[in-house]
Amino acid sequence: MSDREVTTTSSSEDRFVDPGLPPHKSRMGDTDPRAAKRSEMQVVILFVISIVGTIGSLLAYFLVVPDGDVASVRNANLALGVTLFLSLMGIGLAAIHWAKTLMSDHEVAEERHPMASDAETRAAALGKLQDGAKDSNIARRTVLKGSVVTAVGLFPLTIAVPLIGSVGGDWDVSKFKHTLWEKGKRLTTDPAGRPVKASDVTIGSVVQIIPEASEEERSGHSWITEKAKAVVMLVRMDPADLKESEDRKGWSYNGIVAYSKICTHVGCPVALYEQQTHHVLCPCHQSTFDVSDGAKVVFGPAKRPLPQLPIAVDNEGYLVAQDDFNEPVGPSYWERLK
Ligand code: FES
Repeated sequence: MSDREVTTTSSSEDRFVDPGLPPHKSRMGDTDPRAAKRSEMQVVILFVISIVGTIGSLLAYFLVVPDGDVASVRNANLALGVTLFLSLMGIGLAAIHWAKTLMSDHEVAEERHPMASDAETRAAALGKLQDGAKDSNIARRTVLKGSVVTAVGLFPLTIAVPLIGSVGGDWDVSKFKHTLWEKGKRLTTDPAGRPVKASDVTIGSVVQIIPEASEEERSGHSWITEKAKAVVMLVRMDPADLKESEDRKGWSYNGIVAYSKICTHVGCPVALYEQQTHHVLCPCHQSTFDVSDGAKVVFGPAKRPLPQLPIAVDNEGYLVAQDDFNEPVGPSYWERLK
């Protein structure tokens, strides 16, 4: 026999022998009614946990309202997260425990058959479904029935109520058109708020910048929101590498350029700067902007360049804004003109 010939016959001893199903082991609840009752109560308790979680999430939505500072946002998210977790976990664990301890435990061998079933098979399948419903004993277990209906029925409220609550909310998008930047405002480091001199920014460096603000402004309720809109990425490169359009001549200072850090795709903070190419990458969906060329999009889903902050230096050598950004920061939305 040559190397290429293959043996295709096999003796009956070589064939795989169907080992059949392992012997059936009864669960405690199948033989002991008290164990079955105990399982039922455990399932009910899990559904009750879900109900408590759902009611808790609704209370959290209405009562733990963030009032602008970081701690209150964190508390509101924590309260919603924990209660939603209980709500979903209760339903999930109850369903698993119910299936494992109370539902029918007969092993079933399902043979392969043609895809299209005849009428007789469909009638048999329907009968099995009805048997399954009977097997689950839901009709007989009224407390269990009540708890599952209540838990599953209440759960959609955790989604519906916040959705309905947002109708009539604050949808005034005109506030995105302006930020804290204005003529003469110094660029300061985030979070220290230390003014930045042009001479402090070395070629190749990147600094996260926020507008100068008094202690009183920084402790105000709206500071976090306003700061988030105004945050800037400051980059210095060799002035010879800068390609400035005619209308932007004078918006940079000795190779230092300032762009909004909010991605124009869906608003993640752009973060990763590549010194050699002057590309800045948004880690969310990889939009890439060229900060040596007006922060134009060179890759990814963003459709607009990053808005630029025109900068200059004051008579003490500190970097200052010449004005607000050249256009609204952040993602496109339906009301904006550009
Ligand atoms: S948010 Fe930046 S690429 Fe999507």
